[in-house]
Amino acid sequence: MTFEALTIFPEFFRGPFEHGVVARAHAAGVLEIRIHDLRNWTPDRHRTVDDRPFGGGEGMLLKPAPVFEAVESIWPQRQPGQRVVLLSAQGRMFDQAMARRWAALDGLLLICGRYEGVDERVAEHLADEEVSIGDYVLSGGELAAAVVIDAVARLLPGVLGNEASAVNESFSEMEAGRLDCPQYTRPAEFRGWTVPEVLLSGHHEEIRRWRAGAALEKTRRLRPDLISAGQEVGKHHE
Ligand code: ADE
Repeated sequence: MTFEALTIFPEFFRGPFEHGVVARAHAAGVLEIRIHDLRNWTPDRHRTVDDRPFGGGEGMLLKPAPVFEAVESIWPQRQPGQRVVLLSAQGRMFDQAMARRWAALDGLLLICGRYEGVDERVAEHLADEEVSIGDYVLSGGELAAAVVIDAVARLLPGVLGNEASAVNESFSEMEAGRLDCPQYTRPAEFRGWTVPEVLLSGHHEEIRRWRAGAALEKTRRLRPDLISAGQEVGKHHE
């Protein structure tokens, strides 16, 4: 799979993917990450990418022309397995189901928004989707793009030892509407806090049941929204 990131801060992406899962996937030839400097598609001497908003207001917007021209030159003919995504705080919320769908694509082109926003014609006529990674405002889409690349890359076959289909077809806990269960490692007692007895028991069925219950309890406590969302759409898969 190929990830293309369109940004005015290409250096931003030097660090995040040099380590860990994404770096290993790249070394194994499972994925390719190409970083494109939006300023390469500006015609003027100052390489201007932004302009003032019509109607007034604070800040500057990314102009449409460099973004359109960049995307059209990176992908002159968009194939069905290629998706263009605009990252912005106004987008639809990124989630694990989206990551899983995108992991089946050949290419994902991520447009990193900057300044106070992006000319709306990019969202309307160029991007297939406008996506946010959470209800908070970042200073740009670069961190969001790195988050998306990480979440998608770890699902690709051959990364993290994924089998070609098993992991990609399995229903993750996140998508099932609950959090992963609490986990413990050695020592069994740390500063007086002990590990739940059942986990040391070796009784697989009891451990499985304890884990399901503990996951549900933690989800109720920290993410009750996941449980009500799951009930609404009948998403609970046991
Ligand atoms: N750009 C600014 N805020 C963002 C967010 N929450 N998600 C994606 N891109 C953004």
